[in-house]
Amino acid sequence: MVQAIPFLLVLSLALVAPGHSARKCVLTGKWVNDLGSNMTIGALNGKGEFAGSYHTAVTATMNEIQVSPLQGSQHNTNQKSQPTFGFTVNWSFSDSVTVFTGQCFVDDEGKEVLKTMWLLRSHVDKISDDWKATRVGINTFTRLRSRKE
Ligand SMILES: *[C@@H]1O[C@H](CO)[C@@H](O)[C@H](O)[C@H]1NC(C)=O
Ligand SMILES: *[C@@H]1O[C@H](CO)[C@@H](O)[C@H](O)[C@H]1NC(C)=O
Repeated sequence: MVQAIPFLLVLSLALVAPGHSARKCVLTGKWVNDLGSNMTIGALNGKGEFAGSYHTAVTATMNEIQVSPLQGSQHNTNQKSQPTFGFTVNWSFSDSVTVFTGQCFVDDEGKEVLKTMWLLRSHVDKISDDWKATRVGINTFTRLRSRKE
């Protein structure tokens, strides 16, 4: 009976040990979304700021798509395992800007996923067209893996 106590202690610790929730979701790296757009996010600095690049698979314009720079910041750099973040994409091939906001989650299978919403502001020539200049959407990103892995 006395020997059973350490065993039960270990067993109970194993049962209550946090699973996926303890894993940290890290923004840095390569991501692909549900539309097939790719983005690369660089290392975060001490303030949680980051830069990267966005290669969109879709465009609202007739222009040829080009890789475009992004800049953003993450909230609570160290404390939170599933941080919130935002970034701006400055489209290189149009007069438009997109802002994304989202949260970096670890899902039930332990995979990192970015749940985001965005606003795309397109350039319009006159204020009377302002009403139709902004689109809104949702994108889900997962880590981009090369086929070899
Ligand atoms: C995203 O990356 C994948 C894998 O490298 C590639 O096949 C695909 O063409 C890329 N898409 C864009 C829009 O860059
Ligand atoms: C935004 O994009 C335009 C057009 O490519 C470029 O001239 C400008 O330097 C960019 N700004 C930033 C902050 O990336």
